[in-house]
Amino acid sequence: MLSLNVSELTPAQLQNYMHYAVAPRPICFATTVDKAGNVNLSPFSFFNMFSTNPPMCIFSPARRVRDNTTKHTLENILEVKECVINIVNYPMVQQMSLASTEYAKGINEFEKAGFTMQASQLVRPPRVAEAPVQMECIVKEVIHLGEQPGAGNLVLAEVKLIHIKEEILDNEGKIDQAKIDLVARLGGDWYCRVTQDNLFQVAKPLTTLGIGVDALPKQVRNSYVLTGNDLGMLGNIEHIPSEEEIDMIRNDEAVKEVLDATIGDAVNRQRELHELAKEMLKRGEVLSALKVVLLES
Ligand SMILES: Cc1cc2nc3c(=O)[nH]c(=O)nc-3n(C[C@H](O)[C@H](O)[C@H](O)COP(=O)(O)O)c2cc1C
Repeated sequence: MLSLNVSELTPAQLQNYMHYAVAPRPICFATTVDKAGNVNLSPFSFFNMFSTNPPMCIFSPARRVRDNTTKHTLENILEVKECVINIVNYPMVQQMSLASTEYAKGINEFEKAGFTMQASQLVRPPRVAEAPVQMECIVKEVIHLGEQPGAGNLVLAEVKLIHIKEEILDNEGKIDQAKIDLVARLGGDWYCRVTQDNLFQVAKPLTTLGIGVDALPKQVRNSYVLTGNDLGMLGNIEHIPSEEEIDMIRNDEAVKEVLDATIGDAVNRQRELHELAKEMLKRGEVLSALKVVLLES
């Protein structure tokens, strides 16, 4: 394991390690205006939402590592405490990247990158008409993290109005995670795209209290077949099944087959039962899988 003391790294090295590791990062495509009304549009991946009530997003236009100057977005926000956070999806990614060019102050990146300005309803900065979601925000606070090159400036933006394109909604009027076609920033020039193919669901243990991996027998926890993900799913079950419930799984055809084929061979029996449980987990049959691994434990 490589262990690095950050005080011994240059800002560029530190930036490199952190950008690759703290990823993927969502992209805030921020619109701001200066007090004369000049529009600015720039992307920021030091960005996330940190509260739903109040609805609060934070993004960080950092001091340039190159020459320690500040970004126009920050300067504008200090003059006019409003912004629009536009969400970036795949059809916008190349133009969004173009808009990150360090154009001189006063240059409108909407024009440079070929985006369409759409008037906001509550704030002065316009929205990016092409963005699937546009959030009109009031800036509550700006927290400066330092004066040195690379220092971030946290912009706490309270969302006041959300505009959502109807084409990304499902039948219930909620955002369809596959339809929004999000992109995110990683290290260097890397991005990733959220598609139907790479989406997966993980049941969240919110209302129930999982038994925990520590409640599983040692031979299950130390299995050569079951992975950490498998153990996580098993540990998410609420109760250890009763002896009778576990015994019932012997009637399952596949279980019966393993038991018949491994009479007197405890080692292979355990391995094959774990493999069977793993298949069940892949099909989402978590309770049955738990019963299978507990059978001979
Ligand atoms: C996808 C992407 C994400 C970026 N994220 C940040 C960021 O979080 N903070 C930052 O200071 N610059 C970030 N940049 C660079 C700024 O967009 C760039 O410096 C821009 O020119 C700033 O514009 P401004 O001076 O008009 O505000 C990012 C660039 C791209 C392409």
